[in-house]
Amino acid sequence: MAARAMQPGPPEEMTIERNDVTTDLSVDIAGVRLANPLMPASGTCGYADEYADFVDLERLGAFVTKSITRQPRAGNDYQRVVETRAGMLNAIGLANVGLEAFLTEKVPLLRRLGVPVFVNVAGTTVEDYVAVAEALEDVDVVRGVELNISCPNVRAGGIQFGTDPEQIRRITGALRSVCRRNILIVKLSPNVTDVTCTAAAAVDAGADALSMINTFTAMAIDVERRRPVLANGTGGLSGPAIRPIAVRMVHEVYEHVARQAGVPIIAMGGIQHARDAVEFLLAGATGLAVGTALFVDPGVLTHLQDGLADYMRRHGFTAVEQVVGAVPVMR
Ligand SMILES: Cc1cc2nc3c(=O)[nH]c(=O)nc-3n(C[C@H](O)[C@H](O)[C@H](O)COP(=O)(O)O)c2cc1C
Repeated sequence: MAARAMQPGPPEEMTIERNDVTTDLSVDIAGVRLANPLMPASGTCGYADEYADFVDLERLGAFVTKSITRQPRAGNDYQRVVETRAGMLNAIGLANVGLEAFLTEKVPLLRRLGVPVFVNVAGTTVEDYVAVAEALEDVDVVRGVELNISCPNVRAGGIQFGTDPEQIRRITGALRSVCRRNILIVKLSPNVTDVTCTAAAAVDAGADALSMINTFTAMAIDVERRRPVLANGTGGLSGPAIRPIAVRMVHEVYEHVARQAGVPIIAMGGIQHARDAVEFLLAGATGLAVGTALFVDPGVLTHLQDGLADYMRRHGFTAVEQVVGAVPVMR
């Protein structure tokens, strides 16, 4: 009985395989139509140039860039990445080419992808974020700005924005007036007690969409050398280890903030298999981003797309949007 009550979606007689029914994978992210919900998570696919040989980039729903800052950043010292049992820890420290080189060197390739581009923006002051977002207003291929206010691997700046609702209101409000053409996506940190408070702050201040979650602050120690493995000391945990927590957070934000506000969620955190992608849609996500799994299989985004279409056919769904939030609320 309990298992039956959990079955999402249309009545049982429709859950047979029907190859004649068209499966519409397209989704709407605050007015930007994506051919399918799948995109790389920021920082795991560079600016597309590194992946062009491995991935059918034009089959992506959207492309999300690595964080861009106003000035170039060298990032943290090495070692920056370590594998863990069910994921990875990274402390890259927002290494990136900076705004100017991004506009001149990276945008031409992004333009050739033929999919909407969301640029992840980071900084240490509100003015930094504003300057980058302002410059991106004139770049035709860019359709959205994703505010990285939640990077746990930078010692100054970012993290304070992402864990304090007042700071989130302040920075989102400032960016709201700058993002006139581009949609404003606020990326939430999981390193908070109640993610619905930070989500509500972003939505109240005018976020068009939320993306969640960034990595969990975590640590690995080399027991032989008796030192932290990462030069930064701590890093951000990503991958399958965080998925159930991410699903819970997405569902909470969907139920308590996003659904009534009509604000779409782009979910990420350990997506590796099609059932993981479906789980996030059922929890309330509209978009799906994949990070760590790309290091295991660079082609995973297209496999997920095929797996999602197969799930929808098997369960009689004709449009992705029918799957979004289709799980009963458990209280
Ligand atoms: C190597 C690496 C670099 C990342 N760099 C960024 C970044 O520049 N900006 C950002 O907002 N998130 C960054 N992230 C976080 C991811 O975008 C994503 O939120 C997180 O990894 C959870 O998704 P996953 O479990 O599928 O990897 C990075 C993650 C990894 C693993």
